[in-house]
Amino acid sequence: MQSTLNIEQFIPDSLMKLTYQAFQYGKSSFSLAHKNFSTQLRDIFLPKAKPETQPLHPELLQKLQEKTTQLLEAEWEDAQQGVYPLALLFDHQWEDFFRYYPAVWLNMPDVWQRVIQKQYQQFSPEIDQEGYPSYYLQNFHHQTDGYLSDFSANLYDLQVEILFNGTADGMRRRILAPLKQGLKVFESEKVRVLDVACGTGRILKFIRAALPKASLFGIDLSPAYLRKANQLLAAIPGELPQLLQANGEELPYQDNYFHGVSCVFLFHELPPAVRQQVIEESFRVIQPGGIYVICDSIQSLDLPEFKTMMENFPVIFHEPYYKSYISDDLVARLEKAGFENIRTENHLVSKYWIAQKPCL
Ligand SMILES: C[S@@+](CC[C@H](N)C(=O)[O-])C[C@H]1O[C@@H](n2cnc3c(N)ncnc32)[C@H](O)[C@@H]1O
Repeated sequence: MQSTLNIEQFIPDSLMKLTYQAFQYGKSSFSLAHKNFSTQLRDIFLPKAKPETQPLHPELLQKLQEKTTQLLEAEWEDAQQGVYPLALLFDHQWEDFFRYYPAVWLNMPDVWQRVIQKQYQQFSPEIDQEGYPSYYLQNFHHQTDGYLSDFSANLYDLQVEILFNGTADGMRRRILAPLKQGLKVFESEKVRVLDVACGTGRILKFIRAALPKASLFGIDLSPAYLRKANQLLAAIPGELPQLLQANGEELPYQDNYFHGVSCVFLFHELPPAVRQQVIEESFRVIQPGGIYVICDSIQSLDLPEFKTMMENFPVIFHEPYYKSYISDDLVARLEKAGFENIRTENHLVSKYWIAQKPCL
């Protein structure tokens, strides 16, 4: 019989924690150096592409540092409590990094040109734009081809990790504890969990690690991102998550089908009325007693100290719905849809809404 070598058994906790902190510190330093260097290059070669942002106060930077430390601590605690395996803390898309990081640099002049020309809806000619909602046909974050090419899908995770100084996955993983907790009532059943706007599949990868026996489902509007997600998820042993191209406003599932639904970093990219529709569709497909977990950016009222950063964000990155998002009352939207037991949490620069569909 094949036995699995578990390195956690041989390395003391304190050393493991130090290794994790060093790993995160490495990612953060790399991201800061990347941003610093690319900003300098842009300012030398294409100064017109420089956005008009407000300077960040040193106190804000200190607060960010504190919140990062708290996030890492919460991550460590969850792994210790068995919410997910410790190995997940060291998960990183190394292969993609070595394969596609040069393309991030080579793509920069195109991005800067689009910024100067104020081109926000530019797609390669071979991309079929038919059938997508108009709010979606955007170069979100000034990404080449928006969400609609393999090129964009290959670069996306690298860019998000750099944007969040290596903490994007850590913030994503904060959904796992409340999701798992909310699914406890269905302990005797094989649970079904849907990730709405699954993108390149990182959340589904993390849910698979936390809930090895669950049946997983993911939907996204982008065929290219779904292809990328499929590559990632097909490499993981166990039941393959079922991926479908679909709109979160109109989920292709019957009523009351899922025990849990997650949705990460989608709402700030939707117009207000669409946010409501996506919440109502998720309510429809969740079973009575089931759990809904949303993760997205912090909002204006959460951390007024981060106001400058929130104001700068849509100026630097093309995010046409962000301004309306940061003052949107998602608790009211969840209540309107019928959810109850709603609570919110903040971790670093993310906010989480945890809600339950009433039991029958
Ligand atoms: C910022 S990305 C987040 C992806 C992923 N959840 C993550 O954690 O990185 C937004 C994703 O939402 C998808 N998307 C945007 N609008 C959508 C909609 N109405 N229905 C389904 N997917 C949508 C995009 O294709 C993209 O993959």
